[in-house]
Amino acid sequence: MDYLPFFSLETWILLITFIGTYKTFEKLGIPGPKPIMYWGTVGRHNIECAQKYGKVWGGYEFKKPVLAVMDPDMLKTILVKECFTYFTNRRNFRLNGELYDAVNIAEDDHWRRLRNILSPNFTSGRIKEMFSIMKHHSHKLTTCLHSKAHNKEVITMKDFFGAYSIDVMASCAFSVDMDSTSNPSSPLITNASKLFRFPILLYIFQACFPIFLPVLELLGFSFFSRSATTFFKGLVEKVRAERNGSSHQVRDILQNMINTQAANGPEHEKQIKGLTDHEIISQATMLLFAGYETSATTLVLLAYSLARNPEVMKRLQVEIDSTFPNKGPVQYEALMQMEYLDSVVSECLRLYPPAARLERVAKETVKVNRITIPKNMLVIIPIYALHHDPELWPEPEEFKPDRFSKQNKQNINQYTYLPFGFGPRNCIGMRFALVMLKLALVEVLQNYSFSVCEETEIPLTMDPEGLVGPKNPIKLKLIICFYDIHSIYYSDVLTNNVSINTPTMASS
Ligand code: HEM
Repeated sequence: MDYLPFFSLETWILLITFIGTYKTFEKLGIPGPKPIMYWGTVGRHNIECAQKYGKVWGGYEFKKPVLAVMDPDMLKTILVKECFTYFTNRRNFRLNGELYDAVNIAEDDHWRRLRNILSPNFTSGRIKEMFSIMKHHSHKLTTCLHSKAHNKEVITMKDFFGAYSIDVMASCAFSVDMDSTSNPSSPLITNASKLFRFPILLYIFQACFPIFLPVLELLGFSFFSRSATTFFKGLVEKVRAERNGSSHQVRDILQNMINTQAANGPEHEKQIKGLTDHEIISQATMLLFAGYETSATTLVLLAYSLARNPEVMKRLQVEIDSTFPNKGPVQYEALMQMEYLDSVVSECLRLYPPAARLERVAKETVKVNRITIPKNMLVIIPIYALHHDPELWPEPEEFKPDRFSKQNKQNINQYTYLPFGFGPRNCIGMRFALVMLKLALVEVLQNYSFSVCEETEIPLTMDPEGLVGPKNPIKLKLIICFYDIHSIYYSDVLTNNVSINTPTMASS
């Protein structure tokens, strides 16, 4: 102990900052993994913790106590019953730069106002109106894939599904068609991807030394790339300026937001009802940010799962062909009624939920099912662990769409399957995303089959940071489907002896 006084000033600061930090859950009588000085329990897997400590446990993100909850009754209270009273908000890192007033970051009444203004853009009626825009892009996607499939090229799936996803988002949000599918270096993709690059060092620093947060904020540090937010701000402003001089009435999400500014009524009411110019830019940027990567990653993982499970793909293609015979045009209502398609997409989102966890912060100390949750406690809902719990999902690592068949679906507790979150603060773009995913999948499978190749990584290494997604790009090949009146067969039939027959059709 003689060397203690000779520690450097920095070491003393670190030691003092962490003294007495890891007592919260001991005091509350909540079990959990033993924290390590400075790191807390960072790096301990939620699946492992759930197996060891049950449905509720406490951990530490560096210094910060974090309560993990997987108990369905507690989740009902946190996500739904007490959403508006105690659990309205997510954690706010404060380092949000220009996006401080975006809907997913906003808190309490401010969030409620933004959510109410944005929600009408995502009703079934509105999505149905946007369907033709989505179809324009899904058609481009299948056309672009043709030469790749014809030449039997190895395809990095994200290049195509990422472009489709961003083009759909930008067209529906502000009627901008950047044609990223034909132009992989489109600035939309570059900047949307930049928003996703999480500055891990900044995160660790603010987590270890929250005392410096105001200084970091003052110095303009942000989790969101400044150049990307500036790009989207410029884009929205340009689109708005072009519209100002035009008599042509556009109906997209941006225009709906602009229209809220012209609400009738006294000035103070307008301010409450309508969005400010800054809020409009933040929502437009955030919608692209929230929708792009999640949807693109899901499509890539759908392709991968189908390539690895050809019998599932075959069954899905049979359903597609009986719903839209002979590559017939995809229609909204029929698409939404496809049962096996829905099961396939649901199972992919179970196996690979893009958001690994949900977050809520307790506004006040509150008792939920005999567990006291102190004021300001961060509550996390580990979706990935829930979706991989063998008690809920036997053989959880297997891709089995029949878990979500019409019959089996009835037995699923809605608080155990949460790819889009739940309750009033769930994903605002859920329905939009499902339509966009299903449409692309159906159109691609009408024309091609996915196939694994030497370059396909099996099994996948998942990226431990940020969203759940593959660490390395997923590479697959496509096999062209040919149709004639009586049969469906694939270009490799002759070479690889791969033949897929539909029940109503004879093999060629
Ligand atoms: C497969 C695609 C998607 C998945 C899996 C997904 C998942 C999620 C999840 C888990 C949340 C948090 C919910 C909660 O805390 O309860 C969320 C929030 C959100 N999502 Fe999505 N999302 C997807 C696509 C989209 C799309 C296409 C949009 C926009 C059109 C979008 C916009 C948002 C927004 C704005 C929020 C914040 C809502 C709020 O705070 O009120 N998402 N999403």
